[in-house]
Amino acid sequence: MGMLLLTAGHETTANMIALGTLALLQNPDQLDRLRESEDPKVVASAVEELLRHLTIVHSGRRRVALADIEVGGVTIRTGEGVVLSNDAANRDPDAFPVPDLLDIGRNPRHHVAFGFGVHQCLGQPLARVELQVVYSTLYRRIPTLKLAVDPDEIPFKHDGNVYGVYELPVTW
Ligand code: HEM
Repeated sequence: MGMLLLTAGHETTANMIALGTLALLQNPDQLDRLRESEDPKVVASAVEELLRHLTIVHSGRRRVALADIEVGGVTIRTGEGVVLSNDAANRDPDAFPVPDLLDIGRNPRHHVAFGFGVHQCLGQPLARVELQVVYSTLYRRIPTLKLAVDPDEIPFKHDGNVYGVYELPVTW
């Protein structure tokens, strides 16, 4: 129980804060939009867009088909297992036009960064509040925040269930 809450509750939000900060520093126009807005809806939309764009839990959601279903011309039969790529779904151009673009104004509330169905993330309301607080205060309190190293030197977590950075050296 403790391990689950630590990994699911801490590792995820901590990585979203570091990785979201990196994404915003690399997209200064989006960072300015976020920092200068007084509208809580802009902050909420930025959180959803960063969740979609980064999709930090991308190890694949495992499900079992309860009925025959056809997807992309392939029939998945009742009882067969499927591994669903939520990071690919979050970059689906039919659902999110120009999906590789970070656009904090697009309000992509239908993303699947928290999974989908009965087992979707039960901590998502808490995660949303944490990220809304961080993204709406950090860059205002430290407006000169910037990377302290070359982006190529940042060590990324390619080896875990939750994507992120091992460290994000910054200065101001
Ligand atoms: C940005 C933060 C977070 C992200 C991106 C995230 C993402 C996810 C994803 C993708 C799943 C799997 C859903 C599925 O299989 O459909 C999940 C499950 C879960 N999450 Fe989160 N999560 C976050 C924060 C949290 C927090 C803060 C908590 C608790 C305090 C939490 C607790 C859980 C638990 C207990 C499950 C298992 C639910 C189940 O199997 O029924 N998560 N999360």
